[in-house]
Amino acid sequence: GAPVEVDISKVPPGEMIVVEWRGKPIWVLHRTPEMLESLKAVREKLADPDSEKSIQPPYAKNEHRSIKPEFLIVEGVCTHLGCSPSPKFQVGEASGISADWVGGYLCPCHGSMFDLAGRVFKHMPAPTNLPVPPHKYLTETKVLIG
Ligand code: FES
Repeated sequence: GAPVEVDISKVPPGEMIVVEWRGKPIWVLHRTPEMLESLKAVREKLADPDSEKSIQPPYAKNEHRSIKPEFLIVEGVCTHLGCSPSPKFQVGEASGISADWVGGYLCPCHGSMFDLAGRVFKHMPAPTNLPVPPHKYLTETKVLIG
């Protein structure tokens, strides 16, 4: 499939958009400072916090799993059996989410939980973090996925 160009200036802080690339949903999440802070807080609870066993380009193998810390670009495809997890950015938004969960993604199929960098929590059906697709910035606000 052809690469997809995304204007990230259209994504307000705290929100995400979904674009399609190679038939897959790609999430573009604009993380707030609080959301970025949460990535440190959940570290101990993650199965692969440093993304050693997960798929991402070298430039996204860091804590925020992205080039620009505030913008996460990740495949919205669960690494268990391929369902698309749902964004859960508010504590208490769904039953089964503990009050100390700072937000992330929840897979509706078998309950895998991911943080705001697409990193999977421990003891989940999903074995690895959500894959980060190849991407690059063409300008400050234009990113090319693929
Ligand atoms: Fe996501 Fe099974 S497909 S938990």
